[in-house]
Amino acid sequence: MPFESPKRILVTGGAGYIGSHMVLRLAESGYSVTIVDNCFRGHVGAVEALRKAAPNATISFEQLSVHETDRLAHIMRENRIDAVIHFAALAYVGESVERPLDYWWTNLGGTLSLLKAMNSAKVGRLIFSSTCATYGVPTAGANSIDESCPQNPINPYGAAKLAAEHAIADHQNSILRSGGDFAFAALRYFNVIGSDPQGRIGEDHRPESHLVPSCMLAVLGRRDPLCIMGDDYPTNDGTCVRDYVDVGDLCAAHLAALKALTARESLRLNVGTGRGHSVLEVLQACEKVCQRAVPAVRGARRDGDPPMLVANAAQIQRLLRWSPAVRTLDESIGNAWKWLSANPNGYG
Ligand SMILES: NC(=O)c1ccc[n+]([C@@H]2O[C@H](COP(=O)([O-])OP(=O)(O)OC[C@H]3O[C@@H](n4cnc5c(N)ncnc54)[C@H](O)[C@@H]3O)[C@@H](O)[C@H]2O)c1
Repeated sequence: MPFESPKRILVTGGAGYIGSHMVLRLAESGYSVTIVDNCFRGHVGAVEALRKAAPNATISFEQLSVHETDRLAHIMRENRIDAVIHFAALAYVGESVERPLDYWWTNLGGTLSLLKAMNSAKVGRLIFSSTCATYGVPTAGANSIDESCPQNPINPYGAAKLAAEHAIADHQNSILRSGGDFAFAALRYFNVIGSDPQGRIGEDHRPESHLVPSCMLAVLGRRDPLCIMGDDYPTNDGTCVRDYVDVGDLCAAHLAALKALTARESLRLNVGTGRGHSVLEVLQACEKVCQRAVPAVRGARRDGDPPMLVANAAQIQRLLRWSPAVRTLDESIGNAWKWLSANPNGYG
């Protein structure tokens, strides 16, 4: 039996970069949204910007940690939540190596707490932000990664996300065995870039380590020159190649997953474009969009960076009929620049 279509969505991490874009997309698509975010890395300013962008939508905001299981369950019951989209996490690979317990605590522990709250409030649909970092280093010669590739993460960030995927699947099994319903989608994002095309919300990570905003902050003189970490990889120009998916396309993939979650569904899907771009190509695209040179220096390789991470996105295209609408780096980067150039201090 399929679930009724969901109407009321709880978004954890909705004050962060991707979460806020998802909230806006949901609000503009007629859903009512409850944001749960402790604002450790997110911004109250993002919630204010969302309310300004969608003044007629129902967007409520609860500032708390996903570790607060009882309060979470109460919020789910009170708002009659139909489905949860779980973005809340710590998301820096390097930091996860330095502070593994924080990563296990938030990315696995936070997800367990959320599952308990969903169980208690009888919420049976979950979309989980997973990552290509769960795959670790692809097998030599693999040009693209599909969902059947071995998942051997090489850092605590990827390991905790993979463990959370397993915990969600185990939880589903137990519910289905007892005759209940539970459906989930674990979406394994590749590198997310871009912003709202209307420039109403944007990307403001603190610290910022993502390539596109880092290039722009360097252009604006708000950070040191960008360090290109390694230019002797076995790629066309020697720099690492990644798959950059536009945040608007990523939100569309979540909406498609939400609609596809029948009562017993379990989806594990890559979200990427299937196209790779090198660090130098991204930097040049930023220079074209910003019409200024990106101050940059060449440095040594960073430990654990595979030369190439590109998604095989055939599965999501087949199952959800999703494919990226944004076809060029320039378009995504142009959207990002629209917000960042107008908000050089981010959310302040
Ligand atoms: N940005 C990318 O390229 C990318 C790639 C793959 C996967 N992801 C995943 O997507 C999700 C969102 O990433 P993002 O780039 O928007 O990061 P972000 O840091 O902007 O957003 C994460 C949000 O979670 C919140 N949060 C952290 N701990 C919390 C807690 N205990 N309770 C409640 N809220 C908490 C933060 O305050 C922040 O607002 C993460 O799960 C990340 O692992 C991101």
